[in-house]
Amino acid sequence: MAIRITKRHPHLMGEVEGVDLSKPVDAETVAEIEAGMDEHAVLLFRDQPLSDEQQVAFSRNFGELQIATASNVTALSDRRLGLDLADVSNLDRQGRIFARDDRRRLFGLGNRLWHSDASFRAVPAKYSLLSARSVPAQGGNTEFADMRAAYDALPAETKAEIEDLVAEHSIMYSRALLGFTEYSDEERESFAPVRQSLVRRHPVTGRTSLYLSSHAGTILGWPMPEARGFLFDLMEHATRPEFVHVHEWRVNDFIIWDNRQVMHRVRRFAETEVERDMRRTTIRGDGPTAEQAAA
Ligand code: OGA
Ligand code: MN
Repeated sequence: MAIRITKRHPHLMGEVEGVDLSKPVDAETVAEIEAGMDEHAVLLFRDQPLSDEQQVAFSRNFGELQIATASNVTALSDRRLGLDLADVSNLDRQGRIFARDDRRRLFGLGNRLWHSDASFRAVPAKYSLLSARSVPAQGGNTEFADMRAAYDALPAETKAEIEDLVAEHSIMYSRALLGFTEYSDEERESFAPVRQSLVRRHPVTGRTSLYLSSHAGTILGWPMPEARGFLFDLMEHATRPEFVHVHEWRVNDFIIWDNRQVMHRVRRFAETEVERDMRRTTIRGDGPTAEQAAA
C-alpha cells in the first residue's frame, strides 16, 4: 500500500494519508511510516477511530511497548486503561474529570513542560503514539519542538562543549519546577535519576539532536545551579518558535512522534470542566544513551 505524506512545517510534522490504522498494516506500509518518521520526526494521521486493542496492535509494528506504570502516581487499582496504554487524559477510573486538587492531576500537569517521553528511564522511549478520543473545543494543543534543527542552529563552540556531556534526569525534577515535591518512599525509589547524553545521533539517519527534557535536573560533574542555568538556556534556544509546530487536535487524530528527535508539551485548557481523553502507547528505545551509575 502506498501512503502519501505531506509536509506541514519547514522542519517537522508530516500528514499521512492512505492508510487505515484500525486494520493490520503490511510490512511495506510500516517501512514507509518508519521512513516518514525518520524524515519528519512527527506524523499526523487524521480520522483514525481506534479501540485500545487496535492502537496496541498497530503500535507493536514499531517495537516493544513500554509498560505504562512508574511514570505517574496512579495506583494500579485506580487505572482506567490497560497496562499498555499511558492515560494522559484528565479522567479517573470511572471516567469522571479530576478534581482541581487531585494529586494525579497535579502530577500530570508536568506534561505542560517541554519534555521527551521517558527520558527519566535508563532506556528512554523511541516513539510515542497518541490517540485523541475526545478533545476540548479550546486549548489543549500539543506542541512539538525539533531538536535536530535546534542542534544544527547552535554555535560551533556550544556543539563542541556539549558533545560529551551527560545529564541526570528524573521525573521529580520536572515536577519540582511546578512545586510538586511530595512523594512516598516507594515513589522516590521508582523515580530515582538516570543518565542521558545531551547529544544523540539517530540510528538510521545519523542526524544529531539535542537531547533535552524538563526531567533533566543537572549535568554530571557540574555544580547544579550552573547546570540548570545552562539547561534553561539550551531549552530556550531549542523551543524558539521557528523550531516548533503547534497541533490543534480533532477527535480521532493519531500522532506519532520520535522522542529521540523532538520534545513536546501540552497547553492549558479548561481541565476541571471539559474532558480530554488521550491515550498513548509508547515504544521502548534500543538502549541507554549513557552509562548508568553503579547501583
Ligand atoms: C504525552 C504527553 C501531551 C498531550 O502523551 O506524552 O505529554 O497532548 N501528552 O496530552
Ligand atoms: Mn509526554
